[in-house]
Amino acid sequence: MGYRGISDFRSDTVTRPTEEMRKAMYEAEVGDDVMRDDPTVLRLEELAAELMGKEAALFVPSGTMGNTIALKIAVGEGYEVLVEEKSHIYNFESGNVARIVGALPRPLPSNRGEIPLEVLEENFHIGERVHVPPTRALALEDTHNYWGGAVLSLDSLEKAYRFTREKGIHLHLDGARIFNAAIAQGVEAKEIARYSDTVMFCISKGLSAPVGSLLAGPKEFIEQAISVRKYLGGGMRQVGILAAAGIVALTKMVDRLAEDHARAKKLAQGLSGIKGIEINPDEVQTNIVIFKLTSMEVPRFLEGLKKEGVLALGFGPSRVRMVLHKDIDDQDVEKALRAISRIV
Ligand SMILES: Cc1ncc(COP(=O)(O)O)c(C=O)c1O
Repeated sequence: MGYRGISDFRSDTVTRPTEEMRKAMYEAEVGDDVMRDDPTVLRLEELAAELMGKEAALFVPSGTMGNTIALKIAVGEGYEVLVEEKSHIYNFESGNVARIVGALPRPLPSNRGEIPLEVLEENFHIGERVHVPPTRALALEDTHNYWGGAVLSLDSLEKAYRFTREKGIHLHLDGARIFNAAIAQGVEAKEIARYSDTVMFCISKGLSAPVGSLLAGPKEFIEQAISVRKYLGGGMRQVGILAAAGIVALTKMVDRLAEDHARAKKLAQGLSGIKGIEINPDEVQTNIVIFKLTSMEVPRFLEGLKKEGVLALGFGPSRVRMVLHKDIDDQDVEKALRAISRIV
C-alpha cells in the first residue's frame, strides 16, 4: 500500500523506479550522449522509434521539452499551430509555444479532446502573411489529461491526419500517455502514432521511469531535433543511466497499465455513490479520475484528505484529479474512498 503509508494520487509522475530499473541503471553502459555515443541511449531511442512506427527517436529530459522541440521545428516563429483549448501544450507548458516557438497557438473547442473536422476547416489559415500567421501544424493530445484521461478514437485521429495531409501541415501528437490509450483500445501504440508526423511520449509517468520522454518522427526531423534540444539546454551526457530505466519501462511496464485503468474505474464507481461528488464513471477510460465537488471548497477537501494520508490534486475551482499508477493498489483505493466519504 502507498509509499511509506501515503496514498499519493496526485499524478502518475510520482511513481518510483522499480528494483529492475535501479539495477539496470547501476549496470548501464554509458557514453557521451551529446557526442551521440551513449550506447544505452541509442538502444532506448531505437526501441522507441520501433514502438511508434517512426524512423527515429530522441531522448529528451521532459515531455514539455519534447513538445516544444517538435513545434519549434514544425511551426516556427511567425506561424500558427492549432491546439485543443484544454490541451497540456496550450495550458500547462509555461506558454512555450509563444515564448520559445514564437508562434500563435489557436485554441479550438473539442468533444473531450476530439476536434470536429469543421472546426479545423474554419480555423485553418493560409497566405496573407501580413495580418494572419499561416497555419503550419495541428497538435493533439492522447490520452487527454484535462478531459480525465480521455482516449481519442482512431477514427477521429485518422480524420484529423487526413485533414493535415490535405492542407500540407504537420500533425504533432502529445502522446505523453499514448500507452494508456493503446491499452484502453487494445491496439499497439504505433496504430495510434501512425496518424501523426511526430509523437512525444513520456516514460516518467505511468511507465514509472524516473525521468524522460521521447520524441519520435522522420529521421531528418529528429536530426534537427538534436540541435534544438542542445540549444534549449537539453543535451545530457552519461544519460544512459536514465535510458536504462526507460528500456525497462518500455519492455516491462506497459501491460500493467491495464491494472491502473481497472482501479480508476473502481475508484470512479465508488466516488459516484458519495453525496457531494459529481462524476460519471462511464467517462473514465484510462488512469485519470476527475470529479467535481458540489458541497465544499477544493483546498479544504485536499487538506482533510492529506490528514488521512491521501494526496490528490486540485484541478480548477471545483474539480479534483486523482491518478492511478503502479504505487497505488486496491487498499489505497479503499482507503481513499473511506477518507473521502468522511470528509465530504
Ligand atoms: C498530456 C501531457 N503532455 C505533456 C506533459 C509534460 O510532461 P513533463 O512534465 O515531463 O514536461 C504532461 C505532464 O504531465 C502531460 O500530462
